[in-house]
Amino acid sequence: MKTDIIKVSENCVSSGDEERLMRAGEILRKGGLVAFPTETVYGLGGDALNPEASVKIYTAKGRPSDNPLIIHINKFADIYQIVKEMPEAAVKVGKAFWPGPLTMILPKAEKVPYETTGGLNTVAVRFPSHPIARKLIEYGGGFVAAPSANASGKPSPTRAKHVVEDMDGRIEMIVDGGEVGIGLESTIIDMTVEPPRILRPGYITQEMLKQVLGEVGEDVTMMRNDSGEAPRAPGMKYRHYAPSGSLVIVEGEPQQVADYINARAAQDSKAGERTGILGTREQLEQYHADVIKCIGSREEEEAVARNLFAVLREFDEEKVTKIYSESFPAQGLGQAVMNRLLKAAGYCVVKV
Ligand code: TXA
Ligand code: MG
Repeated sequence: MKTDIIKVSENCVSSGDEERLMRAGEILRKGGLVAFPTETVYGLGGDALNPEASVKIYTAKGRPSDNPLIIHINKFADIYQIVKEMPEAAVKVGKAFWPGPLTMILPKAEKVPYETTGGLNTVAVRFPSHPIARKLIEYGGGFVAAPSANASGKPSPTRAKHVVEDMDGRIEMIVDGGEVGIGLESTIIDMTVEPPRILRPGYITQEMLKQVLGEVGEDVTMMRNDSGEAPRAPGMKYRHYAPSGSLVIVEGEPQQVADYINARAAQDSKAGERTGILGTREQLEQYHADVIKCIGSREEEEAVARNLFAVLREFDEEKVTKIYSESFPAQGLGQAVMNRLLKAAGYCVVKV
């Protein structure tokens, strides 16, 4: 299949943008697949109410079909068409954070095919804020299933070029709307349990949700893999976000972290490995390895979140086989950063 790659300005204001997005919407309505930017990461969209489109999404990503998709809407009121119940608490959360980087799990309405929900009786719903995503959902029929547009297991795409790497030749169209703003996938909150429970941390933090809901739980598997429980979001059980090289997170005082990483990298180099280090600007000068990547300043949490997936992909491009990373405080947005980093590392953490 030839993949059409089209450019659209971030706010859909350039001439021809509207017409290009209508063309993209037409593909969705006919059952085809279109990748597009959202404020979190690029999504791989298909018509959520068309079971064949959902099946195509799984095939294009190489994703197991028990891993459900998020349905994206463009109007708050549309949620009532795809959920069976809309609890008062969910209305509150929607009013507080939509449109935006938040996904709610609710009981599904009959018209949502099981192909889209991975066989579950619940459905994940998100109302994104990105202007391109919103227009595309509108033109695509109003209900767009979209997982992150990476090949299954790879870091999520934050730029169109990442989508091209993974999806060229596998889908009808890629809408290039530039770099995304947040860089980590939406927060997922399960509204079918009491109290509501976070299944995947993201830009909307537990603290922010508590302000609206009072009590908010979190899935015990979010930050550790030794609880003996399975994650409630099926997608979180797979090795994920992973670069091809092995990744080790090193935690401790900055100087000790640098000493440890340099010693391990030197050993690896002798053994014929190609070594890489993921560090913050403050510590970068201390490192020695084949490839050293700056994720941003330790003071700028949002930049670290935005750069994480791109930097993991760059290690692949440079054929790095052994990667060492600094660790980050797991509070606020840092919790989402560490959740993704831990999964990318298969929970391999060394404390020095
Ligand atoms: O920011 C995002 O959420 C991006 C953009 C494109 O919107 N999408 C995204 O989708 O990250 P995906 O498919 O890569 O991740 C969806 C996660 C998976 O871990 C999946 O298992 C979980 O949501 N999920 C979906 N439906 C669910 C359900 N009914 N119950 C529990 N978890 C669900
Ligand atoms: Mg994903």
